[in-house]
Amino acid sequence: IAVDSTKTNKEPYRPQFHFTPEKKWMNDPNGLVYYKGLYHLFYQYYPDDIVWGPMHWGHATSKDLIHWEHQKIALFPDKLGLIFSGSAVVDIKNTSGLGTAENPPMIAIFTYHNMDGEKAGRKDYQTQGLAYSLDEGDTWLKYTGNPIIKNSTQKDFRDPKAFWNSETNLWNLVLVAGDHAQFYTSKNLINWEYQSEFGKNVGAHGGVWECPDIFKLKVGNSNEEKWVLLISINPGAPNGGSGTQYFVGDYDGKRFTTDQKDIKWIDNGSDNYAGVTYNNTPDDKRVFIGWMSNWSYARDTPTKNWRSAMTLPRELSLDKVNNDYVLKNKPVLQLEKQLKNEYSNESMTLTANKKAVINYDNFNQSQVQLASENKDLKMVFSNDAKDSLIIEYNAKQKVFAIDRRHSGLVNFEQSFGKEIHKTAVPNIVSNTVDFQIILDWSSIEIFLNGGVYSFTEQIFPNKPYTKLTILSTEDQELKNISIQYING
Ligand code: FRU
Repeated sequence: IAVDSTKTNKEPYRPQFHFTPEKKWMNDPNGLVYYKGLYHLFYQYYPDDIVWGPMHWGHATSKDLIHWEHQKIALFPDKLGLIFSGSAVVDIKNTSGLGTAENPPMIAIFTYHNMDGEKAGRKDYQTQGLAYSLDEGDTWLKYTGNPIIKNSTQKDFRDPKAFWNSETNLWNLVLVAGDHAQFYTSKNLINWEYQSEFGKNVGAHGGVWECPDIFKLKVGNSNEEKWVLLISINPGAPNGGSGTQYFVGDYDGKRFTTDQKDIKWIDNGSDNYAGVTYNNTPDDKRVFIGWMSNWSYARDTPTKNWRSAMTLPRELSLDKVNNDYVLKNKPVLQLEKQLKNEYSNESMTLTANKKAVINYDNFNQSQVQLASENKDLKMVFSNDAKDSLIIEYNAKQKVFAIDRRHSGLVNFEQSFGKEIHKTAVPNIVSNTVDFQIILDWSSIEIFLNGGVYSFTEQIFPNKPYTKLTILSTEDQELKNISIQYING
């Protein structure tokens, strides 16, 4: 189920079921919006090289979030600047007047990055612009009154996320300004009123704030509802480079507040950045897509014709664990339709320090699932090229680790394969631990206990992994082991 599988899925490291651009450079997902049966995915795109360059918005659409169709480039740079990250909405009531009631416009709000302004040392070179489509996203026109949000003093001022707030009946927008987020409201998506700021003294500040998003979720099965604010930062992530933190709090359409003291990350792997969520999903699900890379080495990864992929689309939910709010994420249900059972075992006894080995054709296109007894567990994926990818859960210390130091090609950049990525996992409180591990040709995504923790990492094995070795320092019973092949 690769994008355009007849042409592309045999290229080295081309993901088989993750979105990639047909060719050239991609970074952040942009303009995630659902309209008339299609999920739109726009993305930061440079069509002339496989490294970052003057940004455009690439475009793809999908009916099911798994199979994507490439569309033509949606937004090109113009005299106001390059087209940086942003969001899209459907202006159903035609509040902007840019369409008609019968044919409401789709509206994209993005950042203009003005290179001349930056070179001249001015501070106002990032502003927000608007573009609209009257043909359901196929072609886009820039609004003639751009920029719609000007900037007088702030060097970093970008990545607007706009959405309809049905509680206040206003358009809302959040953007980031260096070390904080700013909130705006509007009646028509064109004239925006500044409301408040958040974040100067809370959260992680190891790098500049980027790509905000804000949305409301129910807490578990209770009637409580909370707002979640996503903020990407680069650098300053727990495993180096780029990462996405979140805040759980309250928002009245104008101001966001939180009691949260600690720093929380949506993903503890090193390759999930700049992720944001869909506007207008049909089933009211909160669907997230992240860029599966890290600015530390995004330009160096060993692919030839294109660079980087998106994470699997994931459904977000909020829960309370250890009396604290936890934002969970797990692959969207649509993925299940693509799974074909290859191996299953309801119960397997693991004897302390004795290896259990499962040989398998090709783990690079698989989902591995199992439940362990909340005891130590180590899983090693390997091949006959001597590559090994090690996943380890230390139950006593409550630490989870991914070791990709010997997982395949790692030396294209010095930090990529240098460290074991370790994460404290205090919110594993159950008697069993559910592991869901999804391997594509150049990525691994791991979800513990239905997404209480997730870990996303790029990998570049020299050959497909064909062997899974499972071991523990304690006797234990593994349950519901399944290995599924992911296919169209
Ligand atoms: C995040 C980011 C955004 C910016 C875009 C430029 O990865 O730096 O803040 O809009 O990439 O491509």
